[in-house]
Amino acid sequence: MDLSIKSFEDYQKVYQHSVEQPEQFWDTVASSFVWKKKWNKVLDWNFKEPDINWFVGGKLNITENCLDRHLADKGDQPALIWEPNDPEEHHRAFTYKQLHQKVCLFANVLKNNGAKKGDRICIYMPMVPELAVAVLACARIGAIHSVVFGGFSAQSIADRIQDANCSMVITADGSYRGTKEVPLKNVMDDALVQCPSVKRVIVLTRSRTPISMIKGRDVWWEDEIKKVETLGMLNCPAEEMDAEDPLFILYTSGSTGKPKGVVHTCGGYMVYAGYSFQNVFQYQPEEVYFCTADIGWITGHTYIVYGPLAMGATSLLFEGVPTWPDAGRFWDIVAEYKVNILYTAPTAIRSLMQFGLDFVKDKDLSSLRVLGSVGEPINEEAWNWYHEHIGKKNCPIVDTWWQTETGGILISPLANVTPVKPCFATLPLPGIQPILVDEKGEEIIGNGVSGNLCIKFPWPGMLRTTYGDHERCRVNYFATYENLYFTGDGCMRDEDGYYRITGRVDDVINVSGHRIGTAEVENAINMFSDVVESAVVGYPHDIKGQGIYAYVILSRETDDDELTRKDISMTVSRIIGAIAKPDKIQFVSGLPKTRSGKIMRRILRKIAEGEVNSLGDTSTLLDPAVVDEIKNGRLS
Ligand code: WT7
Repeated sequence: MDLSIKSFEDYQKVYQHSVEQPEQFWDTVASSFVWKKKWNKVLDWNFKEPDINWFVGGKLNITENCLDRHLADKGDQPALIWEPNDPEEHHRAFTYKQLHQKVCLFANVLKNNGAKKGDRICIYMPMVPELAVAVLACARIGAIHSVVFGGFSAQSIADRIQDANCSMVITADGSYRGTKEVPLKNVMDDALVQCPSVKRVIVLTRSRTPISMIKGRDVWWEDEIKKVETLGMLNCPAEEMDAEDPLFILYTSGSTGKPKGVVHTCGGYMVYAGYSFQNVFQYQPEEVYFCTADIGWITGHTYIVYGPLAMGATSLLFEGVPTWPDAGRFWDIVAEYKVNILYTAPTAIRSLMQFGLDFVKDKDLSSLRVLGSVGEPINEEAWNWYHEHIGKKNCPIVDTWWQTETGGILISPLANVTPVKPCFATLPLPGIQPILVDEKGEEIIGNGVSGNLCIKFPWPGMLRTTYGDHERCRVNYFATYENLYFTGDGCMRDEDGYYRITGRVDDVINVSGHRIGTAEVENAINMFSDVVESAVVGYPHDIKGQGIYAYVILSRETDDDELTRKDISMTVSRIIGAIAKPDKIQFVSGLPKTRSGKIMRRILRKIAEGEVNSLGDTSTLLDPAVVDEIKNGRLS
C-alpha cells in the first residue's frame, strides 16, 4: 500500500485523522509492513509509569521488512552503496539479494559463536558495509545491538558494555577517517579489561593495524564466515520477535550522570522509521539517498539502515570525512552516484562554507532533488548557502527535528509537500502531537508563542525505557510535566503555527550535532589531579553550533597554563572521547554559587557567550566578587 502523502491538503487531512483516530491511523500504516502475526491491539499506554505498548501481540522480524520482502521485485537493485574513506579505493555496492545473503551468513556466525535472542552485543566499527550487516544480523537473530560510535574512548565503551552486560563484541582492527587511522581493536582491548561479561570478540579486517588476538576470546570475521559457508549455513530464518521486544540500545547524554541506554523496540520503531523516511524525503523508486551521519548515532540507525531499507531504498554509506581529500568530497560523491536526496548536518554545511565556492562550483549537483538537515538548529546563513549553492534554489530543505529518544523525525517539512521557511522545522508528522508548555506545565495555546516542547500522545517510534533503569526514564522524560513526554528543547510557534526549535533548555550541549552532558564533562575534568572543581557550559560556536566552555578551579598555581589546559583536555579525551574536549578552559579561583551551594550556570553561560553586561540578578550569590574576577578573565 502507498503511504506517501502527496500534497499539503493531503497532509492536513491525514494529520487531522491521525490525531482524531490515532489507533486507526497507525493500524493502517503498520498493515503495510510484513508481520508474522498481526497485533490484537494497536496501542496500550500510560505516560505515568511510563508503559507504552504498540501493536500488542504482533510478531515480526524487522530484517524481513528490510531485506526478504524486497527480494522478489527489488532483489537486483542496490540496497547499500559504499564509498570508502580513500576515493582511490574500490567502492562496493550490495543488491538486496547480496545484502540478504551477507546478513544471513553473519547471523549464522553470531549463532555459531553462542549469540541468541535477547543477548546484548556491542558493535564498535568503522563506517563499512559490514557495520550495517552486523546491525541487521543481530536483528535477524533477535540479539539486541548496542552500537558505540567509533570516536568514544575505552572508558566510555567499557561503561556502555557493563551497563548492558554485553556478552559479545563486534569490532574491526582499525578505521580510517581522512588522514587518521583509529586503532579500534586496541581501544576495545583497553575497554575489555573492565568487561568480564564479554566472552567473544569478532574482528573484521579493515586497516591491517597490528592488534592482539586473544586466544579463546577473539576470532576473525572472515574466518568465521568461511566456517559457516563450509557448513552450508547459508540461510538464516528470521527470529520471531514480539512487537515490544527490544531491538537495540543506544546511549545518549542527559543533563545528569552517565549516558543512558535508550531502548527501542521492534514493531513500533520499524513502523515509524519506514513511515517517516518515506514521507519526509518522499523517496521515489530507484533514487539514490545519501545520509552523511555515522551509524553510531541514531540518525544512522534510522536513516541509513532501518528506514531506507524498510522502504526498499538505495542507501549510500560513506566512511570518510567531508573535508578529505578536500572540501569538495560530498559534492564529488553526489556527482559520482547521482545522489537524489542528501541528508546532512548544519555543522558540516558550516565547515564546508568556510572553504568557499571553489570546491562546489564545477561539481555536477543536478541529480539533487531534496536536501535534509538534522542534529541542531540550522542558522540562516547556512540554510541560505545550502539552498542556493547546493540545491541551486531548486530543492526543498527538510529541517528535521527529532532525538535519539524519539526514534525518528517528529517535526519536519515533507519534501515538496510542506511549504518551507528557513530555519523552521515547520509542522509535526502525522501522529505527532506537540505542545508548548510554560514552567508550570500549563499548555501555551495559540500562535506566536514560545515554551518548552512536549509531546502529549505516544507515537510508535518513541523510547520505551532506559536500559536497566526504568525509573531514570520516568524521571527524565515523563516526570517534569504530568502526562507529557518532555523533550528538553525550547521552541517557538509562529503566527502560521510553524515550529522553530530554539535549543536545549537543560544542561545538555549540542556540539557539532552531538549531544554532550555538561555533568559528564565536569566529571571527566574533575578526574585531573590538580582540579578542585569545574563548571561546564555551552557557548555559540561558528562551526560547531555550540562549543564547550569550562571554568576550572585548580588546587595549585600552574607554571604553564597552556600545558595544564592540554593535560585537562587529554584527560577528557581519555575519559569520554575527543568529541567532548573543551574548546576553552578558564582558570578561576571560585564559581558563582547560591547560598545553598548551587552553581549559577545562567551567569556562567552569559559570560561564556560574552554577554557580560546582562548577567541579571546576582544578589542571591554567596560571593558576588567572584563574578567580576570571572568576567575579567573571560576567554574570547
Ligand atoms: C537534540 C537531539 C535527531 C538526530 C540527531 C541528534 C537537537 C536535533 C534538530 C533540528 C534544532 C535539533 C535538539 C534535540 N536537534 N535536530 N532540526 N533543529 N535542533 O540526536 O543526539 O539525540 O540530539 O538535537 O536539541 O533535543 P540527539
